[in-house]
Amino acid sequence: MTENTWIAVDDYFEALFTSKDKDLEAALDTSAGAGMTTQQITASQGKFLAILAQSIGARSILEIGTLYGYSAIWLGRTLSQDGKLISLEIDEQRAKTARRNIERAGLEKVVEIRQGPALETLSQLATEEHAPFDFVFVDADKPNYRAYLDWVMKLTRRGSLIVADNIVRDGTVTQAYSRDEKVLGVRRFNSAVAEERRLNAVGIQTVGAKGYDGFLVALVTADK
Ligand code: DHB
Ligand code: MG
Repeated sequence: MTENTWIAVDDYFEALFTSKDKDLEAALDTSAGAGMTTQQITASQGKFLAILAQSIGARSILEIGTLYGYSAIWLGRTLSQDGKLISLEIDEQRAKTARRNIERAGLEKVVEIRQGPALETLSQLATEEHAPFDFVFVDADKPNYRAYLDWVMKLTRRGSLIVADNIVRDGTVTQAYSRDEKVLGVRRFNSAVAEERRLNAVGIQTVGAKGYDGFLVALVTADK
């Protein structure tokens, strides 16, 4: 099976199950222009996240790593007007573009993009009343995944669902002696999740238009 097959199957599922959407496509265009398409989740992955969030009745969502807001549009659309998605983005230009994409999609009331290093915006969030979040999507810089997990555990409750992107990285995640900081970061994160008594977790490998990677899915099983 080649990567072309994965892409063809992604196209096939997308044609079957996801309708054309000008707001999502516009958000993708902004990232294509910036040459960042490989870091965006695919349409099917966006729908997968949305279905997960909807299936637990999520009303508050935290995203770490906004990029241009593509996944935030998928997740924001699952929320009613009294729901809230807070998405954290370190890069000012990306945050600006993401806010425009969110506005175009008519989601500016429910989606808030906070610009700054996530370790700072997370500690700020912990002092506010948005937590606990029902659903968390971790998709930011891989070396900090482990540090983000500590905050995510503080900002969730029993029953919250956590999804983390890019935990397979073309299969390199098995390389304990890798010198790639992203691989090492994801490995530290996966080990910490495994050791966390309050999490029941699984790693799921994926192939598709984005290549070979995977999601970690973890259910928070206890409040403390
Ligand atoms: C990278 C980051 C992502 O979030 C992604 O989905 C793919 C690649 C990266 O930093 O390499
Ligand atoms: Mg990602």
